[in-house]
Order: sequence, then structure tokens, then C-alpha cells
Amino acid sequence: MNEQLNGISEIRVFAPATVSNVGCGFDIFGFALDQPGDEVILRVAKRKGIRLVKITGDNGKLPLSISKNTCTVALSAMMEKLNLNFGIEVELHKKMPLGSGLGSSAASAVAGIFALNSILKKPVTTHELLPFALEGERISSGATVHADNVAPALFGGFVLVRSNNPVDIISIPIPKDFYCTVLHPFMEIKTDYARSILPKTIAVQDAIKQWGNTAGLVAGLMKRDYDLVRRSITDYFAEPVRSELIPGYKQIKEAVKMYDAFGFGISGSGPSLFALSRTKLDALKIGNIMKKVLYQTTKIESDIFIGGINLYGPKILG
Ligand code: HSE
Repeated sequence: MNEQLNGISEIRVFAPATVSNVGCGFDIFGFALDQPGDEVILRVAKRKGIRLVKITGDNGKLPLSISKNTCTVALSAMMEKLNLNFGIEVELHKKMPLGSGLGSSAASAVAGIFALNSILKKPVTTHELLPFALEGERISSGATVHADNVAPALFGGFVLVRSNNPVDIISIPIPKDFYCTVLHPFMEIKTDYARSILPKTIAVQDAIKQWGNTAGLVAGLMKRDYDLVRRSITDYFAEPVRSELIPGYKQIKEAVKMYDAFGFGISGSGPSLFALSRTKLDALKIGNIMKKVLYQTTKIESDIFIGGINLYGPKILG
């Protein structure tokens, strides 16, 4: 057996979908969802190098080339940095929508490197894994790497990316009663396009409101003050332009106001929308109304995902 391996020759790992930005925290806030997520099966192979042997659930959209897939790009970076001298075969099973604003590329990268780390005799720490996942993210989002999907997918819970370079991740404790509804309209928004339409500058008066809100959101979560979270989540930067890309956004936002939600916004670069509530029943009701209003106003079908927050990040399935 290879001296770098711990004896496990095949492993299956799940990594969660994530809601990034969370309203006011463009590129700096994100949290992990219980479900959906991606699964990676990683097998030790006789032949050296990485082979991506199978992808399911992507409708043929994802590249099998290892230099173009976020999962294998992250794995390559890790194999190189740690001087790993064995070969691996990778299967990627997409169990979440692509281009949906739920951190699909981050989940694949995180599942891959977590799987590889779990078969090593000397595994590295979760913090040491983060740069490899970011290499994967670089492929999907271009030059400006942001950790607000990979960090929550890897660490679980709610994270603050205090700095992207050098990367500085802080886990923010969240209140116990914290449920998330995600509405995923059946349409796609490319992250690079959604980034290209953002304002290049921000007016001082808006900046003051925005940093007041980011601080207020963190304080609200830590103090378990749901009303402070609700008051603080408003985004003055991305939401005004990106909401125009999502048909029915205004109507859905209005409809959710009738319910007991303590937060609402665009998940990542969209088109998925999220709402936060204190009970699973509220989360369900909110999901139903979001789906109904989207269909009534646009005739666009959608999925809803309801659940709690994933506090642990990836998990080994077998
Ligand atoms: N923070 C990123 C954005 C998340 O909003 O563009 C999408 O990957």
C-alpha cells in the first residue's frame, strides 16, 4: 500500500449547498444548508494522476476535463501541494441545480478535497484545505476569487469572510431557531454576468448604510436578536441591480413580508431566493407562497428547499 494512504481505497462524501452574500454581505457572508448538496466518490487508482470518470445530474453541462472542472482543479492543487504520489478516480454526482446561486461549484470542490483528505495517513486541517477549494472556485468565477461559498461549505454554519486575500474566515454563532427556505426558479444566471452588472463604486451614504447593516447582522445573529437581523439584512449594493434579472422578484418579496420571516434576499448571484424563519412550519408556508407568486406572476416553475443550517460542513457517506 502507498505510504501516504490510510488504507481506505474508496470513499463517498457529501458537501452542502450554500447561501452566500445573505443580503448586505456581498462576498463576505455565507451559510451552509442541510440540503441539497453534491456527492463525490473518490477511488485510489493504480495509474498516477486524476481521472474524472463520471458526472451525473448535470444534464451533460459540466466538463470532464480535469483542468476545467472545479472539483478536479481543487484536487489537482491539493495533490500537487501535498506531493501526493498516487492516482485517483473521481465520480461527481450533482444533487443540486447548476447556475442557481447555491454554490454548486463550491460544493463539488469541497466534497472532492474533503474526500481526498479523508484517505490520507496525515490529513491536513480544514483551514489548510480552504486554499485548494478556492482554486476550484477560481475556474468558475474568474480572477476575483471569493470565499463566501467554499468557506461555509467547508466549515459549515454561518461564516464571515473578513478578508479574501489573505483569507480570514470567522464562524458566527447563529440562533438555535434558524430555518431557511430556498426558492429555485427554473432559469439560470451566470455569476460572471451577475458580477459584471454591479456598480463599480458606491456612494458614501449607501456605504454607511451597508456597513451599518453588515455589523448589525453579525450583532443580531450573536445576540439572537431576530428583529435586528431583519432590520439589518437589506442590501444597498447588489440587490437593486440583480433583482432586475429575476422575474417576479418584487412581488415575491412583498408576499414574504406577510409572513414571519426575519430575512429575505437573493442567494449568491441568483436566481435562487432565500428567506429565514424561526420554525419549519413558517419555512414551509413561506416556500409555498414564494413558489405560488413566482408562478402566478411569471409562469416560471421552481423547486423549493426547506431545512435548517448545516453546522458541520461535508460528511462521509460511506
Ligand atoms: N458573492 C458572489 C456573488 C457569490 O454574489 O457574486 C456568487 O458566487
